[in-house]
Amino acid sequence: MEDGRRVVANLVYSQEDVHARYGGVVPELAARAHLEKLPPLIRTALGQQALHGEDVDLIGVTRGPGLIGSLLVGVGLAQGLAAAWAKPIVGVNHLWGHVYAALLARADLEPPLLALIVSGAHSDLVRMPAHGEFQVVGRTRDDAAGEAFDKAARTLGLGYPGGPAIDREARHGDRRHQPLPVPSLPGLEFSFSGLKTALLYRVRDLGGPHSLDATTRADLAAAFEWSVVDSLLHKLDRALVEWPVPEVVVCGGVAANTLLRSRAPEVLTGRARLTVPPLPLCTDNAAMIAAAAPHVRQRAELRADPALGW
Ligand code: KG4
Ligand code: ZN
Repeated sequence: MEDGRRVVANLVYSQEDVHARYGGVVPELAARAHLEKLPPLIRTALGQQALHGEDVDLIGVTRGPGLIGSLLVGVGLAQGLAAAWAKPIVGVNHLWGHVYAALLARADLEPPLLALIVSGAHSDLVRMPAHGEFQVVGRTRDDAAGEAFDKAARTLGLGYPGGPAIDREARHGDRRHQPLPVPSLPGLEFSFSGLKTALLYRVRDLGGPHSLDATTRADLAAAFEWSVVDSLLHKLDRALVEWPVPEVVVCGGVAANTLLRSRAPEVLTGRARLTVPPLPLCTDNAAMIAAAAPHVRQRAELRADPALGW
């Protein structure tokens, strides 16, 4: 990252093939793949730009939340580079990274903002009054939205990764043929486990995933997607009533979802400007962590925190 907002290199090594045959992420394999792939990725990213250690001002690395083995590999490597190059290092919260991905997408986007962060492990409504300040105002009581998509895909026999599979399937289904309940908890809390169970029972009543014809499978995917997206947007709407702000961000892996991207503007019309990062910046990537890093550093310095974000 250059000057805080310009991406100079953003390489992603996808582990989908590593985990696909197990139907989900295997933490041990994820950590090993990090160990194998991170050094060559960093070498390639620097090489592409003819950059060297001495050109680097600051190293940002994801410090969590996430799978501990993979995080340890990343942090260990970053600390090694920081020591070898004698450069400062900051630990970035993964979820802050997702919000900063939106700032990469729009040059004049600044806090105060409200963010809906939807990923494999999180469905959070977050207020960001200023750079480096985050307050979670709503979260899930059970499954995250991405986790719900992944489990629903398994129930429908669609395999891994589930979110993109449901998205593809839903595009040629009709949600009205197999309606599913829309979760509704009071306040700003999400819950997707009841919806997940409703789908499981429906599929069981229809004879199991292997008895589903293509049309029914697509209809179920469309109904499930609709219920998740409707619930997310309903809470976003409520949050905006409670915390009116001029800027809203929808981010995280699930922000890649076609229905969420197309329906989110409906909720916000005339109330706030919406920014959804482009697809490669929605799912996990390094640029979003680099974008957050200078702000994490500044915040740590302001608070005279010697641990710089850790
Ligand atoms: O942020 P992310 O890349 O990784 C985590 O931090 O978890 O989010 C991954 C999640 C997965 O659950 C994946 O199924 C979901 O994002 N996802 C999608 C789509 N693309 C990725 N969910 C719905 N529709 C999509 N197009
Ligand atoms: Zn993520």
